[in-house]
Amino acid sequence: MTSKAKQRVRELRIDETRLWDSLMELARIGATPKGGVCRQALTDLDRQGRDLVVRWAREAGLSVTVDRIGNGFLRRSGLDDSLPPIVTGSHIDTQPTGGKFDGNYGVLAGLEVMRTLNDHGIVTQAPLEVVWWTNEEGCRFVPVMMGSGVFTGAVTLEHAYAATDAEGKRLVDELSRIGYLGAQEPGHHPIGAYFEAHIEQGPVLEAEGKTIGAVTGVLGSRWFDCTVTGMESHAGSTPMSSRRDALQVASVLMQEVAACAHRHAPDGRGTVGRVEVFPNSRNVIPGRVKFSIDLRHGDDAGCAEMVDEIRAKAAELMASTGLDIRLEEVSAYPAQAFSPRCVDAITRASDDLAYVAMPIVSGAGHDAVHVARIAPTGMIFVPCRGGISHNEIEHAEPADLAAGCNVLLQVMAEFADV
Ligand code: GLV
Ligand code: MN
Ligand code: MN
Ligand code: MN
Repeated sequence: MTSKAKQRVRELRIDETRLWDSLMELARIGATPKGGVCRQALTDLDRQGRDLVVRWAREAGLSVTVDRIGNGFLRRSGLDDSLPPIVTGSHIDTQPTGGKFDGNYGVLAGLEVMRTLNDHGIVTQAPLEVVWWTNEEGCRFVPVMMGSGVFTGAVTLEHAYAATDAEGKRLVDELSRIGYLGAQEPGHHPIGAYFEAHIEQGPVLEAEGKTIGAVTGVLGSRWFDCTVTGMESHAGSTPMSSRRDALQVASVLMQEVAACAHRHAPDGRGTVGRVEVFPNSRNVIPGRVKFSIDLRHGDDAGCAEMVDEIRAKAAELMASTGLDIRLEEVSAYPAQAFSPRCVDAITRASDDLAYVAMPIVSGAGHDAVHVARIAPTGMIFVPCRGGISHNEIEHAEPADLAAGCNVLLQVMAEFADV
């Protein structure tokens, strides 16, 4: 780019209303009565969401490629298409009671950057791409962050294809059913640099009165399925002394998950988010309980210690109660630091745009964690109301979303101009 073109890019601003309207339009697909979105991965609603994004991409003159795990790449040519693209994006699958912004913002902010460059006839040196990653949320199929995991080699395609949902439906069949089983080999696709815009999903930026978070890294995470097996029997006639109550024992281990995270403050996190009780009848002593454990920590040794503590408690409970307790690890990713070059660029762009920025660590997982292992990566956070996310009431202000998108435009243009 000539210095005149660079100056023009510095003066560019994205269209806040267009970005907001697109977010609201996408949020209508799977809209819930409480104002949120339920658009779980590889459902018919996910297909409709993808179709809408593809339509918008084509209208913006972007080419569309889908890979074998259903990741979609929306490409805008540069002056030199032999250069690796500068990529941005996130995910459009949601939690069952998700919000309008988690993930969706990152994809539509990328699209808005492309639309703005189109409006002003600006062509970057390297090509630009917006990507949606398949199944970031991990609520219907594990592992979480699946599309980016397969893309970067952290998860094999075979393992991802074999994942099943609660009804036993296989991921590969659902991907094919919704028409997004693409032909491109995942990872056969260089990335020059990757930037992901996202709502913070936590309370820090709002509490500190900052508009932009320059994300320095992400907590590591390990997920387990825990099964406690006792024996079903009658709630009235079985004496307290001879019960093998799986739920009573499971609940002690569940308490330990939170207690362990408290011991590992401030970075430790421990959550039991899903519980299944069998046979789940009022007057039957539960014979089996299956529950999820989500552990997170800022460093991998800390995360490993938390796992050891949970395993030790499980062993102690097995010995003292005689019930069987099994822990199966179903998903894991290490703590990840982002590229200082990308973090600096985000901070500089925020300063130039007169937004108040701060460095921040992400407690939530993001596709950027996987991408960071293969390309220089950074994330741009904007505040969300009350720090609430993974909730239908999730909300972000249009001006903050626009600010993050303006920062995204500047860093993408900077990195694409090699
Ligand atoms: C993904 O949403 C996660 O951080 O669990
Ligand atoms: Mn997300
Ligand atoms: Mn999420
Ligand atoms: Mn997430």
